[in-house]
Amino acid sequence: MDNDILKVLYSQNEIKEACERLGKQIQKEYEGKTPVVIGVLKGAVFFMADIVRAADTYMQMDFIDVSSYHGGTKSSGEVELVTDITLDVAGRDVLIIEDIVDTGQTLKFLMDTFANRGANSIKVCTLLDKPAGRLVEANSDFIGFEVPNEFVVGYGLDYDEKYRNLPYIGVLKPKIYSHN
Ligand code: IMP
Repeated sequence: MDNDILKVLYSQNEIKEACERLGKQIQKEYEGKTPVVIGVLKGAVFFMADIVRAADTYMQMDFIDVSSYHGGTKSSGEVELVTDITLDVAGRDVLIIEDIVDTGQTLKFLMDTFANRGANSIKVCTLLDKPAGRLVEANSDFIGFEVPNEFVVGYGLDYDEKYRNLPYIGVLKPKIYSHN
């Protein structure tokens, strides 16, 4: 896989440090509370696993699967709910864990969904924020790194369901996806 990467954006160590920093912020934010922490499948799995272990606070965990990309590098704009959470978020403090916020459409969909279900508060922690890609307003409360407007893979992020298991985050060589 390494040969398909044009450049490394964030090393394993940089990601680890960011998770520890964000975990401590989350711990402070939810002191005395028990938030429902919701990881967005599949991209946020490694981030979710690392961040919850860096936050010494009570929490309940759940996962939601939504899709908008359908295997390409550009968002289709339509977000669909693939697999829902099992916990009830009415009256609860919700923390959404995202891998990356690009157009903002996925995040807006999730925030609207949990607001409609009566969540008491909704906050967002994203590993990566790509503000140049934004089409709708969707702001995160905790951000690992701000990334340039490039397609990135690794540490959960995929291209065509591949590269999620790269331990670092990098930019793919354009030749990998230019044939699409
Ligand atoms: P948005 O709805 O455009 O904000 O996109 C959010 C979702 O698109 C993320 O949860 C990712 O799964 C995917 N995505 C956006 N940008 C990238 C990227 O650079 N690499 C891999 N996946 C991406």
